[in-house]
This record gives sequence, C-alpha cells and structure tokens, in this order.
Amino acid sequence: MSSTILLENPEAGIAVLTLNRPDKLNALSWEMLNAFQAALDTAESNADVRVLILRGAGDRAFAAGADIAGYEGRREREFMDFQFAGRRLNDRLEAFPKPTIAAVNGFALGGGFEIVLCCDLIVVATTARLGLPEGLLGLSPGGGGTQRLMRSLGRHATAELLLTAWRMKGERAYQLGLAAALCEPEELMSTALEKARAMLKVAPKALTEMKRLVRLGADAALPTALAFEQEVLFRLYCSEDGQEGIDAFLEKRSPQFKGA
Ligand code: COA
Repeated sequence: MSSTILLENPEAGIAVLTLNRPDKLNALSWEMLNAFQAALDTAESNADVRVLILRGAGDRAFAAGADIAGYEGRREREFMDFQFAGRRLNDRLEAFPKPTIAAVNGFALGGGFEIVLCCDLIVVATTARLGLPEGLLGLSPGGGGTQRLMRSLGRHATAELLLTAWRMKGERAYQLGLAAALCEPEELMSTALEKARAMLKVAPKALTEMKRLVRLGADAALPTALAFEQEVLFRLYCSEDGQEGIDAFLEKRSPQFKGA
C-alpha cells in the first residue's frame, strides 16, 4: 500500500481509507489516484470489509483538491489524462458495492469535495469547509462535482456554491441535508464509526441493493425507479437473508445474515 493512501481495518466489518498527504492538505496527485484505485480493489475483494470510511490525514483537510502543482505548464494531454483518471475513480467510488462514508474535517475543496459527493453518507466536523473553488483558478470542476452537487442540493444552491466560490461550513452542509451528522472535530471518527456500525446490522445484500436503488433512482424516471424498487424487494424476499430476517423477527432472535 502506498504511503499517500492508507487502508486500515479498525474493527470487524469496517475499513478506513485515509488520504495521507497532510503537508499539502491531502491534495490529490497522480500517485494518489492510482493508490486509491488499488485500495478500492483491496476493500472490494475483502469480504471482511462491509463499510468503507474515507477521511483525510491531519486536522486541516479532507483534501484541498487536485494537486495544482501538476497542472503547471499547459501539458494538455497529461491534464486530460489526469482528469479522466479522477473521473474514473469517482465513478467507481460512487458505484462501489459496499456503502461509503466520508468523514470531513477542514477543507474538502474541488476534487476533494467531488470524492465526498461520491460517498453515500457524509459526516462533517464543525471545522469542515466544502466547496468547488475552481473558478478562482479560471477553471471549472471536472470530476462530477457540478452535476452530483446539483442532484444533491438542487440548482440554486449549487449555482451559489459554484459562482461565488463559497466554502460552505459544516453546519450549513448539515442544515441543507448534505451531511448526515455534524460534530466536533475530535468526535468525527467516532461519529462515522457509529454510522458504519449501524450499517453492519443491515443485511449485506440489502445494503448493496438499496445503495444501488438510491444511486440509479436519482437519475431515472419515477415509473422506472419504482419498478426497479419492487424488483429489488422481490429478489431480496427470495434470498436466504430475506427469509432469515423474517424468521428471526418472528422467533424473537437476532438474524444471522450470510450475505446470500
Ligand atoms: N494542490 C497543491 N498543493 C496544495 C493544494 C492543492 N490543491 N492545496 C493546498 N496545497 C498546499 C499549499 O501549496 C501549501 O504547500 P506549501 O506549504 O509547500 O506551500 C500547503 O498545501 C498548505 O496550504 P496553504 O495554501 O499554505 O494553506 P492556507 O491555510 O493558507 O490555505 C487553502 C488553504 C485550502 C484555502 C488553499 O491551500 C487553497 O486555496 N488551495 C487550493 C484549493 C483549490 O483551488 N482546490 C481546487 C483545485 S483544482
């Protein structure tokens, strides 16, 4: 594992991926994008990982964006390759088969915020500052930020954040419903872990399917999304875990889910 991306298993079922370049506010370099993909490979194939928490090292940032140093010199081909790699990573993270939680302390700007937006749950500290300030560089976001934010917050809140290069405070992200929890910075990991533990009680297949329902439903027409929802339920009802959940409830015991 690269030193700029760390992957740990603090407790059964939960992995924590840390963006680890604190001296540069965890700004995302080429090397980090590759290491991030490798960490996702590991977390995806490890059956003991059921929930993935993402965070930034240090107390100043989740990630302050793409590594602007790598943008210098008008190397257009390289710039585009980097952008495509970032987009591939974000698309994969959004579709990751296990639920993801972004734990945000300090700056989550540009590409850092775009990663956060690909996670299923967002937990913020009061110190969080979230934004897409690329306009200040004469650029615009390119890793899905404009479109994912619009799907989360709607057109006008997104326009405000983009057009004023606003760094939204954690409190506001929580008020707007973007963040699932708001806490003091020292409680950030315990808050994220609490959400992850709640997910561990949900049957694994149901977790994956409901994650997919939320993601695909956001872009589908309502009749299509509703048909998809019922198809998922019928499939889960016929699954071993679906039957186990019903039996366990009626027998007044805890279910033993096998992910089947
Ligand atoms: N890319 C590369 N390096 C970055 C970076 C980025 N996106 N964001 C911060 N850094 C580096 C700084 O260059 C500095 O490095 P140095 O100590 O070697 O000079 C270090 O991280 C600390 O940042 P600094 O700017 O000194 O901290 P600050 O508290 O004064 O400002 C920010 C913090 C986040 C407001 C400021 O760093 C910033 O605006 N970063 C860029 C944000 C951005 O535009 N992101 C979108 C990128 S497309």
